[in-house]
Amino acid sequence: MGIVLLGPGAHTPDKVITNLHLEQIVDTSDEWIKTMTGISQRRISLDKNPKDMGLLAAQNLLKTTELTQPIDEVIFATNRHSDEQEFPVHAGYVAAGLGIKKVIIHDKSAGCTGLVDAIQEAYNSINNPNRRVNQVLVIGSERLTDMTDYSDRNTCVLFGDGAGAYLVRRDETQEGIINSVLGGEPDTGDKKWLHGHLALEYKEGKKLVWSSSSEKFKTYRHTQNYLVMNGKEVYRFATRVMRDAVNDVLQGTNYSLGDVDRIIPHGANIRIIEAAEKGLKGFKGEIYTNLDRYGNTSTASVPIAAEEAIRLGIIKDGMLVINVAFGAGFTYGANLYRAIL
Ligand code: ACO
Repeated sequence: MGIVLLGPGAHTPDKVITNLHLEQIVDTSDEWIKTMTGISQRRISLDKNPKDMGLLAAQNLLKTTELTQPIDEVIFATNRHSDEQEFPVHAGYVAAGLGIKKVIIHDKSAGCTGLVDAIQEAYNSINNPNRRVNQVLVIGSERLTDMTDYSDRNTCVLFGDGAGAYLVRRDETQEGIINSVLGGEPDTGDKKWLHGHLALEYKEGKKLVWSSSSEKFKTYRHTQNYLVMNGKEVYRFATRVMRDAVNDVLQGTNYSLGDVDRIIPHGANIRIIEAAEKGLKGFKGEIYTNLDRYGNTSTASVPIAAEEAIRLGIIKDGMLVINVAFGAGFTYGANLYRAIL
């Protein structure tokens, strides 16, 4: 049966925080950040929360993708609900913003794999004969800067904000989504990392604000849940599972790595992507990321990169594409699909 992936649409905030800005805030350098992560700048949303950004990404998607039939389901993937409010569901906010009155709505948490996971869930929903679902809107939206401690140089250089959205639609005439894989390796941490190697910890940290009087980013002390990370452990996991997920998603299909035109990886660190690429024997296509300009936007990083790749003609109609992601939990996943533009 044909189920296609359409879009994506994206929204990225206007405010840019560069490595040079971060040099003013923590003991770091532009050179260290670029060399160790590949990131030069990231966007920060000081005014819009994840549900607002998610709605904007969906509206941008609908400007370029014709809605030929109703949206039956909305899945909202995020790690950071607006103002830490997991209730009510953000998918309902987006649906209401689009004027949809009757629809299945739910949110999803699967670390940075959230949107890849939501695409698979949308596929299953359309495939389920007990559900009358023909079209699903999936959204990944993040304001990770809101849970970032700007006194912790190990993490604050990595993250940015943004949102992306796809439509998953039944279309018997097209090949569309060919396969998806999901996986996880529960991360329970160790003696030092009691809550996991990529987790939240309630502590005093520093929040970031923009001071329009001094035209500078400033920080203030604040106690809340902040993201903490054992970077080396995450790095080891990520390089292994990104390579494995790409190979796994091709298993049982009629395609091999040599047939794949583009890979859109979760943008966490260019070194993770390059290390994973080395293990992809036979891959002759291109891996596309724009994490140098957006940092790690978690569930939104794949659609933000894919939207740009389509706009620049890097992903063309009919190309064989893989979205691949990993995230806190630990989680990972990949979607293999034929691009339809
Ligand atoms: N600027 C300057 N120095 C720094 C900085 C910084 N921003 N951050 C760390 N350092 C220092 C450390 O303090 C350490 O100094 P020391 O040797 O004096 O103690 C040195 O640099 C090396 O630090 P490590 O953490 O050992 O460096 P590593 O090689 O592991 O690189 C990095 C760190 C880039 C974070 C890497 O571990 C990584 O990319 N990990 C994966 C991160 C990731 O992808 N996270 C997101 C997951 S997705 C999600 O779900 C949110």
